[in-house]
Amino acid sequence: MSKEKVVLAYSGGLDTSVAIKWLMQKYSLNVITLTVDIGQGIDLEEVKNKAENLGVEKAYVLDLKEEFVKDYIIPAIKANAMYERAYPLATALSRPLIAKYLVKIAKENHAKYVAHGCTGKGNDQVRIDLGVKALAPDLEIIAPVREWGFSREEEIEYAIENNIPVPVSRKNPFSIDENLWGRSIEGGILEYPYQEPPEEIFQWTKLQKTEPSYIEITFEKGIPVELNGTKKSLIEIIEELNKIAGAYGIGRIDHIENRLVGIKSREIYEAPSAVIIIKAHEVLESMVLPRELSHFKKILEDKYAELVYYGLWFDPFREALQAFIDKTQERVTGRVRIKLVPWNFFIVGRESPYSLYDYSLATYDKGSTFSTESAVGFIKLFGLQNYLYALRGEKND
Ligand code: ARG
Repeated sequence: MSKEKVVLAYSGGLDTSVAIKWLMQKYSLNVITLTVDIGQGIDLEEVKNKAENLGVEKAYVLDLKEEFVKDYIIPAIKANAMYERAYPLATALSRPLIAKYLVKIAKENHAKYVAHGCTGKGNDQVRIDLGVKALAPDLEIIAPVREWGFSREEEIEYAIENNIPVPVSRKNPFSIDENLWGRSIEGGILEYPYQEPPEEIFQWTKLQKTEPSYIEITFEKGIPVELNGTKKSLIEIIEELNKIAGAYGIGRIDHIENRLVGIKSREIYEAPSAVIIIKAHEVLESMVLPRELSHFKKILEDKYAELVYYGLWFDPFREALQAFIDKTQERVTGRVRIKLVPWNFFIVGRESPYSLYDYSLATYDKGSTFSTESAVGFIKLFGLQNYLYALRGEKND
C-alpha cells in the first residue's frame, strides 16, 4: 500500500527541516513541502533544493507576494489594523494565507495531513490550525515541534544524525519572522522586558539619514497608489517605503503583548511602511469620514485587529466587519504629506476631493459662513436633558 501524504509548511530553517525527517520516520508519511515567498527575502531555489535533498516527494515554492498584498495587507490597511494599537500584524496576516495554500496543495495531492513548524506556546499554531480547519474541516493537522519534545541540543543531535544541515549561526537566540509588512523578533535577551533591545537585532530600521525629508502618499479608495507622485504597485510602495523610512530608524515597536494563549510576551517589530501607511490612512479618513462613522469605525478597528490576531481570518465575524469597513473606503481618496526625521515621522499635510473640511466654516478670520446664532439654539436643545437633570436635582436635594 502506498504511504499517506502530508503537506508541510516549510521555511527552510532548522525546525521545519528536522520536521521533514521526523514526519517520515514517526508517521511514515510521504512529505510534500510548501514554501511561500511573501517578501521575507529568501532564496526560493535554495529552499527547494534543500527540501529535495531531504527526500521530499515534491517541493512547492510559490511567490504569493501579490496575493498577500491584495487579499491580506489591503484589507488590513483599510481597517487600520493594529493589535493593541501597537502591532501591525505582519505575522498574523500571513498565517491564513499559508493555511489556504496548505489546504490547496493538500487537495491537489490527495494528502490526508498538513503540518507546520509552530511551537505550542504561540499564536501562530492557532492561526494555522484554525485557518486549515475553516477551509478543510476534514484535513488532519500535525505540528511536529509541538509534539516532539526535543530540547535544542536534542534537535541538533537529531539533525546531525539525519544529515540535516545545521546553520553555523545556531547561536542566534532570536526567533524571527518576516514578510513585506514587517519583521517580528522574539526571544533571547528580549525576554527581559527592562533590557533595551540590542542594536544588532534590527535589520530594517537603522539610522542612516539624519537630514529631514518629505514623502507623499496618494490613496485611492483606501489603497496607497502613488509614492511621491509616481504611480506604483503596492508591493513597490511598501518595499520602497520600508527602505526610505527604515533609513531614519522609523518603525521600531517594543511591545508587551497579550498572546491568545494567555502569555504576556515581549515583542519587537520593525515595520516602517506599515506604521506610516496606517497613520497616513487614518489621517485621510479623519478628513473624509463623517464624525459618527469615524468614531464608530475606530471601535470596530480594535475588534478587527483582535480577530486577525486570534487567527479568525476566515471567520464570518471578520468577514462581516470587513464588509462594513470596505464600504467606508469609497471616499478615502487623496494625498498625505509626511515629514521624516531621525526615529520618527510627522503628518504635515493632507488633501482630498472628498474632504469635509471647509475653510470658510472653520476659519476664525472674518467672513466665516458658520452661523454662530444657530449655535445658541443648537446648544439649548442639545443640552436640554442635561439641563433638566440638573434642575430636578437642585429642587429635590
Ligand atoms: N507576536 C507576533 C504574533 O503573534 C509575532 C510572532 C512571531 N512568530 C514567529 N514565529 N517568530 O503575531
